[in-house]
Amino acid sequence: MSFLDLAKSRFSVRRYKPIPVSDEDLNYVLEAGRVAPSAVNYQPWQFLVLKEKESLEKIHQTYHRDWFKEAPVVIVLLGDHSKGWKRADGKDHTDIDVAIAADHITLAATDRGLGTCWVCNFDKKKTIELFNLPDHLEPIVFLPLGYPDAQTDPERHEAKRIPLSEIVRFM
Ligand SMILES: Cc1cc2nc3c(=O)[nH]c(=O)nc-3n(C[C@H](O)[C@H](O)[C@H](O)COP(=O)(O)O)c2cc1C
Repeated sequence: MSFLDLAKSRFSVRRYKPIPVSDEDLNYVLEAGRVAPSAVNYQPWQFLVLKEKESLEKIHQTYHRDWFKEAPVVIVLLGDHSKGWKRADGKDHTDIDVAIAADHITLAATDRGLGTCWVCNFDKKKTIELFNLPDHLEPIVFLPLGYPDAQTDPERHEAKRIPLSEIVRFM
């Protein structure tokens, strides 16, 4: 499959089969996150992989959607603001770096027949409390992970994305 075909076949999965993710598939997607580029190669991230019942019950308290509870694994991507590169004008690049790692993970998941969905609309304060996170570690994105019980049409982008003619300027 070409990269473009892979990118077009990724979609937000909000239905998961009730089967565990194999260790091989899980390690594959985590490795894809590990090798993501980051500013100055500082790699300001940690990946919390929630698989145990107790951990999943905790994360479900921070984002209340029935479909979210179907995923057998949730990866919580933490940004380490003590490590992230700060430009001379003060801009902290941690969020950008974590987003790249998250995108690697979602595309690798698609490659393995797994589904994911970016989740940022969670209760951040509660997440920090429940997982006892120190000040420098910010939960930035949750990625539920599992085998999809849903399909999409890769051609949907034609209608659902802004055409190139409106977003690209050649100069
Ligand atoms: C930064 C970011 C945050 C998102 N947060 C949520 C979320 O909290 N809940 C949710 O259901 N989807 C969330 N999404 C998924 C988007 O709604 C989805 O990617 C978008 O509608 C395009 O659909 P597609 O992923 O199926 O192509 C998020 C996506 C991104 C990139």
